Amino acid sequence: MVETIQWADAGVVMIDQTRLPREEVYVTCRTYQEVAEAIRTMVIRGAPALGVAAAMGVALGMQRVEGEFRAHLDRVCATLAATRPTAVNLFWAIDRMKRLALKLEGQPHDQIAAELVAEAQRIREEDIEINRAIGRHGAPLVPDGKRVLTHCNAGALATAGYGTALGVIRAAVEAGKKIAVLADETRPFLQGARLTAWELQRDGIETTLITDNMAGYFLKRGDIGCVIVGADRIARNGDVANKIGTYSVAVLAKENGVPFYVAAPLSTLDLSLASGDEIPIEQRPASEVTHVFGVSVAPEGIHVENPAFDVTPNRYVTAIITEKGVARPPFEETLAVFAQK
Ligand code: MRU
Repeated sequence: MVETIQWADAGVVMIDQTRLPREEVYVTCRTYQEVAEAIRTMVIRGAPALGVAAAMGVALGMQRVEGEFRAHLDRVCATLAATRPTAVNLFWAIDRMKRLALKLEGQPHDQIAAELVAEAQRIREEDIEINRAIGRHGAPLVPDGKRVLTHCNAGALATAGYGTALGVIRAAVEAGKKIAVLADETRPFLQGARLTAWELQRDGIETTLITDNMAGYFLKRGDIGCVIVGADRIARNGDVANKIGTYSVAVLAKENGVPFYVAAPLSTLDLSLASGDEIPIEQRPASEVTHVFGVSVAPEGIHVENPAFDVTPNRYVTAIITEKGVARPPFEETLAVFAQK
């Protein structure tokens, strides 16, 4: 399994996802500011992986305290929180680290530093366990002998390992099901083409790459057993923010009677939001739309919009697969139960 992110003596080591699949290069972030920059520039991405990166960023930032303890902690947390707005796992992890740091305040500094590293490593380990549990709960839902459509990358690369949506696919394959994957390329950042296709091919899982606008064609043909995607934030009512284009796939799935599953850890659940309308949507640079690998594909000066995520209303979601089990509508009730378990 690919190592997405790890703590090492030299700092936080990540596989550089901007260079895959052409090059497998690992970068080491030696300061919390470097971790923040790696998040901003998508060296690391995917909601659970962002949570792990942010946690390790806080641990790294607290190895040396400059000035007053609380002011320094606030500065480190604020820098990491200001990187990307949509994936709630980032804020969940920062909060968890901050709560521990405040609890440890007053202890010898070496102890605080070591305990924060241990906590960040725990978040990483837990994430892998959670993904395996999501896989176990989700595998029975995947029809044998059919194709699974996925969008973006919700795989090992988007998590500490194994993946959420791809974790369900991996678990179904491990259970002996004959499954092939249809991967949307996921314009504009091409997480599907560059990352999902790469990690599934590496695992020997049969994968076919399509452009995003082909999804309707394949869903209508009838050989897709289900759609499985990840999530960046899920509101209390089950509305799901995920990579731009997910909403279109969900509508097409419903139109064609194909189940649409969301696989996500409970740390992706934001119970403070009543609906998906309140989820902040990241707007990314125009150059991601006007350029493909540095080559311009649009006239200079053209107006561009580049929302990185969309919200799929809960009525299109067949079920949400979590580490605690499979939540079905009405999500307002079922998700609340899982959150308390
Ligand atoms: O912009 P990205 O690549 O961070 O977006 C990633 C996604 O939208 C994933 O589907 C989501 O984070 C779930 S990852 C398990």
